Amino acid sequence: MKPATFNCTVLRDGHQSLAATRMSTEQMLELAPILDTMGFSALETWGGASIDAGLRFLGEFPFDRLDTLKKLAPKTPHSMLLRGQNLVGYTHYADDVVEAFVKMSVKHGMNIFRIFDCLNDPQNMRTSIQAAKAAGATAHGAICYTTSPVHNLEYFAKLGKEIADMGADGIVIKDMAGLIPPKEAADLVTALKKSTGLPVWIHTHDTAGIGASTYVAAMNAGADAVDVSISPFANGTAQPDCLRMLALMQGYEACPVVADDFKAKLADISAKLQPIYESLCRFTGHKNEVVNSDTLRYQVPGGMLSNFRNQLKEMNMTDKFEEVFAEIPVVRKALGWIPLVTPTSQIVGVQAMMNVKFGRWKNITPQCADVALGYYGRTPAPVDPDLQKLCAEKMKKDPITCRPADLIKPGMQALRDKLAAKGMPTTDEWCVIYAMFPQQLEDYHNGKKPEPPTAPAKKPAEAAPAASSVAPTTVGLSASINGKDMKINLLGKTYDIRIEEF
Ligand code: CO
Repeated sequence: MKPATFNCTVLRDGHQSLAATRMSTEQMLELAPILDTMGFSALETWGGASIDAGLRFLGEFPFDRLDTLKKLAPKTPHSMLLRGQNLVGYTHYADDVVEAFVKMSVKHGMNIFRIFDCLNDPQNMRTSIQAAKAAGATAHGAICYTTSPVHNLEYFAKLGKEIADMGADGIVIKDMAGLIPPKEAADLVTALKKSTGLPVWIHTHDTAGIGASTYVAAMNAGADAVDVSISPFANGTAQPDCLRMLALMQGYEACPVVADDFKAKLADISAKLQPIYESLCRFTGHKNEVVNSDTLRYQVPGGMLSNFRNQLKEMNMTDKFEEVFAEIPVVRKALGWIPLVTPTSQIVGVQAMMNVKFGRWKNITPQCADVALGYYGRTPAPVDPDLQKLCAEKMKKDPITCRPADLIKPGMQALRDKLAAKGMPTTDEWCVIYAMFPQQLEDYHNGKKPEPPTAPAKKPAEAAPAASSVAPTTVGLSASINGKDMKINLLGKTYDIRIEEF
């Protein structure tokens, strides 16, 4: 068996999971050059929520971060998480927008696109896989792991094959909730390698404390790479830390091979990360760092659990917690056993709450109806026909079976026209970001920059005062919560806070 390799997620999922994606580019400046010398098979530096959060909260133009990190870490392939036809936004975009986004990302240095779809519908992944290949990058198709009566080895192996047939260069098992038990991960790696003949990588979270054991089993079953992070932006709701994984793999043939100074470099990075972690204390929390086996009991992502507790509290439904959770499988089954990952986790969660509060299917959210009517794509199992009929009547909309993006007209020219009319730059970079985050980009252009939460990374200790200026203890603070968005008014200045999912 050949040794596996490590990918490092500290510059993206590490702080997305543990510090609400608030690490700034400046805080990464010292880290990137060291990470580049450590032999990681990939550095996850972009994508996921980092583009939204960087623009919205840190006042950073997304492509600037990629440029900076690529310059500082030119040797190691950079990787990013891409939600298929949703790119890094929350809805389907036109094919020409998807193609332009991927092309621009490659132009600015992206090497590996990790492409997934929230329904595991390969149709929604095709355009981005082909765009990545056309731009000379590597396209990995990611499969969202979830448990249900239809999600068995056979289903996953067949899905992998479909993605491989679209031209993907590798398959990633994406276990966003940290739910895969070790033996199942091993079986899944074996099945996917067999059905696709491609390299298989695995991504999990240590939320329930089983992620590290899952990686050991996966590597020993032949997984080619696993995602790890670096403490203190590791473990808990983030990826298992690299040092721990090395210790757990010691003596196995599949143990990743590292240079003599690897552990010293890990220690150096950990030390450099410590003050950054402390400067982001406004966004971190003990709850994220401890083992939470509740996620195993409820089979949902950890972020969904905490969102839920907050939402039930707002709706005065705290006593209905168990009832709402019992409703989740009912909603999932009716919607064809869709996985729970952004945005389906929110859609299923809210609908389960509505079913308990108002009676089953008495009130249906437009998003839930759109899933039932096929507007998000093909569900893993058929949608309950009665629910589909009900949604069609209520929404006065016909169900569709085509690829949803086939209904969307090309968008780049219209985006360019809109930007020109506003006197904003009209390059492809601005167009694709504007497609997803129009208001945030306009604010950025108008110089409405949010206060940076930290000082430059060179002297991270100085960051503390800036961060504490938004601490909840400060006088003149009021907050209002609307769903997952929270407005905080602090000393006359309004901050938008989004309760995020990992
Ligand atoms: Co993740």
